[in-house]
Amino acid sequence: MQTISDIHRLHQQLKQWRSQGQSVAFVPTMGNLHEGHLLLVKEAKQRAERVVVSIFVNPMQFGAGEDLAAYPRTLEQDQAALVELGADLLFTPTPDLLYPQGLENQTYVEVPGISMRYCGESRPGHFRGVATVVCKLFNLVQPDLALFGMKDYQQLAVIRAMVRDLNMPVEVLGIDTVRASDGLALSSRNGYLTAEERQRAPELKRTLDWMAEQLHQGIAFGELERQAAQRLDNAGFSTDYIHICHAHNLDKAVSGDSELVILAAAQLGRARLIDNLRVDLA
Ligand code: PAJ
Repeated sequence: MQTISDIHRLHQQLKQWRSQGQSVAFVPTMGNLHEGHLLLVKEAKQRAERVVVSIFVNPMQFGAGEDLAAYPRTLEQDQAALVELGADLLFTPTPDLLYPQGLENQTYVEVPGISMRYCGESRPGHFRGVATVVCKLFNLVQPDLALFGMKDYQQLAVIRAMVRDLNMPVEVLGIDTVRASDGLALSSRNGYLTAEERQRAPELKRTLDWMAEQLHQGIAFGELERQAAQRLDNAGFSTDYIHICHAHNLDKAVSGDSELVILAAAQLGRARLIDNLRVDLA
């Protein structure tokens, strides 16, 4: 596997593969790779002849006071994991390379509506940063296929909307969430949890499972959201939001909707945890 951090070399390699008619799958990440990221790479390997992974801790998607400086950076370990899986190219641009004129003067991509709710409301500018960097990375790599985790359900919806609205010639594939054996969704931010918080963290997924059961019994959405937030707060979380939404447009679900997703974000100690669960009411 080659690790490349300049655009010219990236383009040379991609041009060579394209001239041989090879397809390219792309997995954008912020590094500190865990089994969730690695599943995306494995799925990419199955679907294209070449697999490009990027590691870039994107300053544009972090708000003031968020964990940009503290975000875990483990390049050597990540490279070893990617070599083992047979990734072909790791792209590791620097902030100066992607934002030579600084963040303030950067042209950006804003996906309206969907970016403003839930995580977007709690983290203003976050999805603008995500959409902008993913657009830039798509332009640089020009993949046939790009893979994203359903763990970041709203992020995936933002990217799908961007690709649709701007006619980007890339197929977007969502991949199931990889979890620890106790149900906690794997996340680079789980490393911020103390041992005691880590023991409590699976309560987030348990709450989602409990909500799914209640939904099947026909309990009203608003009342269930209120009880779930209470349950999380009682377990020592500080609930940011927990909403029952329409699975495709992410609008708040209304009675009669049957394809649902429960979206949740809650702070536990230093870690902001997010998770979600799809629920289909027959
Ligand atoms: P990052 O948090 O590093 O995640 C990279 C990809 O891995 C995303 O598509 C995310 O949804 C997926 N992922 C994370 N945890 C997962 C899990 N437990 N199971 C399955 N997939 C998982 O998301 C980002 O980076 C950034 O916002 C990025 C898209 C790279 C733009 O900067």
